[in-house]
Amino acid sequence: MEKSGLTPPVYLAPMAGVTDRAFREIAREISPARVMTEMISAKALLRNNRKTWAMLALAAEAPPRLAQLFGRDAGEVAAAAQILAEAGADGININMGCPTAKIVKNGEGAALLRDPAQAAAVARAAARAVSIPVSVKCRLGWNEAEADAAARLAPRWEEAGVACLIVHGRTREQFYAGRADWAAIAAVRAATGLPVIANGDVASPADARAALSQTGCAGVMIGRAALGNPWLLAAVSAALAPGPRVWRPPSPLEREKVALRHLDKLLAYKGEYIGVREMRKHFAWYCKGLRGAAALRAAALRAESAADLRALMREAFEPAERESEAARREKGKDSQVC
Ligand SMILES: Cc1cc2nc3c(=O)[nH]c(=O)nc-3n(C[C@H](O)[C@H](O)[C@H](O)COP(=O)(O)O)c2cc1C
Repeated sequence: MEKSGLTPPVYLAPMAGVTDRAFREIAREISPARVMTEMISAKALLRNNRKTWAMLALAAEAPPRLAQLFGRDAGEVAAAAQILAEAGADGININMGCPTAKIVKNGEGAALLRDPAQAAAVARAAARAVSIPVSVKCRLGWNEAEADAAARLAPRWEEAGVACLIVHGRTREQFYAGRADWAAIAAVRAATGLPVIANGDVASPADARAALSQTGCAGVMIGRAALGNPWLLAAVSAALAPGPRVWRPPSPLEREKVALRHLDKLLAYKGEYIGVREMRKHFAWYCKGLRGAAALRAAALRAESAADLRALMREAFEPAERESEAARREKGKDSQVC
């Protein structure tokens, strides 16, 4: 999370239940995007909860390894940050944006935006506890009336030793409704000297350029638009890089290969029973835009084995590959005539 660089960084947003090790590795195989673990409970980590450790498996991943923590207690978050640093993390991110009831009812996630003293104390404790950079990911505030909370907190986080802010341009009450407010992200950026990463509704290279120019941010973070489409991370990275921009959209066959590799990783890390069930939703996302996608999605929900999913992938992508091959040949003929 450097202050500036030649190429604005592109991040895959942490998404619980989605951006596990398998998806993070896929994203990094096909793009230069930075990735982050799903959010990890500081409390659970301190209790050495097995599922939390499985979520981590940090040391096995390639650097830079960014791990996201959530928690309200400054001492707990600091101690958990130390565990993560020892486990091989190269950076810690603190979640101050999660809107879900089970998190905010404990004063964690976006609830910290309503308690600026605690939000600053948590960040300070973590930044003091580790020698690796600590960043904060937040929403704008709790609700419309408090939508300046992040901008007010930004100088306090800076003073607390935070290295970077990632701002999702919505309030907690919005959850995912409405458009992300990039002007409000610009206000957070203007309130601090820290590098700020813009997040919310970046779904294309053009969006990424617009988000950077409207916010003055140092980089962008992409969440939902990368579901089933990790190539978007490569497209955006190429668009933001200086110099010639080389990016070729994947063919249906390439999409199938990546989906198959995603499945293989899930099987390796989670076993067939869980891996197949988790791959169902990814497969549905990978199918977006294909002919017969609705029927394929319905069939994926009934898939019980890796073999079922592999057969569905062939059924999904191979006709599309034949069609695009035929279209390429047609185009070749046309250009010969001309
Ligand atoms: C299914 C799902 C899970 C999410 N889990 C997390 C999480 O663990 N930590 C976090 O900071 N944000 C989480 N988010 C929020 C995203 O990181 C991101 O801020 C949000 O989706 C806005 O970006 P987008 O418009 O590009 O999707 C999650 C979002 C979704 C849709």
